[in-house]
Amino acid sequence: MNVYDATRMADLLGREGYAETAEEADADLVILNTCHIRERAAEKIYSELGKLALEKRARAAEGRDMKIVVAGCVAQAEGEEVLKRQRAVDLVVGPQSYHRLPDLLKQAKQGRRLTDTEFDVDEKFDALPQPSRAQIRARGVSAFVTVQEGCDKFCSFCVVPYTRGAEVSRPVADILAETQRLVDAGVREITLIGQNVNAYRGPDDKGQEWSLARLLAHLGEMEGIARLRYTTSHPVDMAQDLIDAHESIGKLMPYVHLPVQSGSDRVLKAMNRRHTGADFLDIIRRLRLARPDVAMSSDFIVGFPGETDADFADTLALIREVGFAASFSFKYSPRPGTPGAERTDQIDEEVKRERLAALQSLLEEQRQAFNAATVGKTIEVLFEKPGRHEGQIAGKSPYMQPVHVSGPADMIGETARVAIVAAGSNSLAGRLVGKGEEAKA
Ligand code: 5AD
Ligand code: SF4
Repeated sequence: MNVYDATRMADLLGREGYAETAEEADADLVILNTCHIRERAAEKIYSELGKLALEKRARAAEGRDMKIVVAGCVAQAEGEEVLKRQRAVDLVVGPQSYHRLPDLLKQAKQGRRLTDTEFDVDEKFDALPQPSRAQIRARGVSAFVTVQEGCDKFCSFCVVPYTRGAEVSRPVADILAETQRLVDAGVREITLIGQNVNAYRGPDDKGQEWSLARLLAHLGEMEGIARLRYTTSHPVDMAQDLIDAHESIGKLMPYVHLPVQSGSDRVLKAMNRRHTGADFLDIIRRLRLARPDVAMSSDFIVGFPGETDADFADTLALIREVGFAASFSFKYSPRPGTPGAERTDQIDEEVKRERLAALQSLLEEQRQAFNAATVGKTIEVLFEKPGRHEGQIAGKSPYMQPVHVSGPADMIGETARVAIVAAGSNSLAGRLVGKGEEAKA
């Protein structure tokens, strides 16, 4: 979501005469688009700001100006605090207010230091300009489209409901128009995103509410789209129509990111997740019925307050039962203002570290096994960019694995059948397969 927001900020400021640069030293304006999900993420911002403050001072000595903006969820959560803690910061702008950047920057140029952390998602999307064809092309053949923002779930460890606000779904017509524009400029893969993407309930022009499954089915008919994905989902909102969509929509990729967090029902309850381990396994069973080759990824937290060795063993057991293609896993990080942070039975840092290491070693084993199992198979790859070596092109498998082959650069943006010949630690190597050749095999 932060990647998407950053591109929209670039679109917006492009209209104001700003251009993106990869060199910090060239920038007149630096925006840190921040994440507040874990403490480490937030702390990194302040160390980065410290470096930028030095740069700003050095420039001022040469008579050059540089504006520093803190955007995103740290801005939302800490507001004025950021201005106090780092004098060099000019603006603090929350994730639902960044459409007001042009006006805020004008005020900053007059020397004012401001904070804007209003919540107005509808106003934001209406105010944002669409990217130009050139901007879209420069960003590649795979693009995100935000369909939903915010979260009403209030998992007891999580800041998102506080920083991103309540669940809001964008209208169907806006999503279709944004997607059409991307596809017209050459985008082939669309990933629908939202903090709770499968809770999507957006109105159409007749005032009827569409589910995510209905939206996907509609996009599945859009000419030019080769692939559809969606992320991130909550198990409670994994409706049967969405599960069935994996059978009925050919372009919907057989890969589902579905955070479970823990395999212990006791911990899940304490986390206010509103599902059990068995509920999660049942969703996967039904997904596999709909689409037998569906690959799963998930998020895990170890060391939530009160987590015992037995609870942790339940998490490992669940992982063994599912077999994940990929995963994200974290040590529990107490976040100010969330119920989890108030608990007095916090887990020792050392225990968290050990549990995370054990969990990650099992997940890594599964990831390698999943990649190794693709060797010898022929799969469809969407080519996204030139490969690392001359004459190579690189893309993704339906299961999100990076794949590289020898092939011509004009295949970028195309899908093609690839015979996988080897699995490295982070990518697969393959060979382009002619249609006739596959028929023989
Ligand atoms: N501590 C550790 N991990 C967290 N996540 C969210 N909040 C916390 C926290 N306080 C993880 C969850 C979520 C992912 C985006 O980040 O696993 O699914
Ligand atoms: Fe956070 Fe996801 Fe839970 Fe919402 S559903 S509170 S975003 S972990």
